[in-house]
Amino acid sequence: MESNSQYARKDYWDERFKTEENFEWLSGLKDFQHILQPIIPFDAKIAHIGCGSSQVSMQLYELGYHNITNIDYSEVLISNCKQNYPHMKWITDDITSLENLEDQEFDIVFEKATIEAILVNEKSAWEPSDSALRSLESIFSSICRILKPGGLFISVSFTQPHFRIPALLREKNWRISKMFEFGEHFHYFVYVCQRKNVEKAKEEEESELAEKYRHIAKSWLRDL
Ligand SMILES: C[S@@+](CC[C@H](N)C(=O)[O-])C[C@H]1O[C@@H](n2cnc3c(N)ncnc32)[C@H](O)[C@@H]1O
Repeated sequence: MESNSQYARKDYWDERFKTEENFEWLSGLKDFQHILQPIIPFDAKIAHIGCGSSQVSMQLYELGYHNITNIDYSEVLISNCKQNYPHMKWITDDITSLENLEDQEFDIVFEKATIEAILVNEKSAWEPSDSALRSLESIFSSICRILKPGGLFISVSFTQPHFRIPALLREKNWRISKMFEFGEHFHYFVYVCQRKNVEKAKEEEESELAEKYRHIAKSWLRDL
């Protein structure tokens, strides 16, 4: 029987992308374009990590964003997309390391639903496992490494802020600068973290968002 735990397996995604050309997780760009457009300049160098067969990159391209690199660990997907969309860059990589990408290469790193897929086997949203926290630390530090100082990590997620904000606070090299909400019946969140300036990283204060949400589900911030 199928279960959600398959979303954490690479062989599942490779098999799925043998036939799937287009599937949008959570929500399509039209529902959150009004949030992204004001914060992403048209000349931004954008990395879409865990891109899957989402059409968000193609739609951003149509809007005028022409410097987009798409990243996923499924070679099947990346090889198909290289043929179908040669006007964009396609790179096979694991988002827990992003080892095929250079330091400080991007103005924007965008993800949607991939962190959720990686954490799908968690038993409780209140008590994350050590392995979930380690994965998050690896993902966040890899994202920080490829972001330019001042660059933005933008994450579209269904995870409530009292769980996701303390998780994002594990990373000390960014500041959680904004959170948006969208959706009519089911609500989604857009988390925006700004890569700190390396020299001033320790001096920068935490945001009001951090203060508001860090104390509820504290286990996401516990020491390992
Ligand atoms: C739930 S889908 C989301 C796809 C797309 N972002 C969307 O919103 O429609 C998760 C995607 O992340 C990819 N993925 C999962 N774990 C990954 C990892 N560790 N590194 C890179 N890609 C990963 C999968 O291959 C799949 O394409």
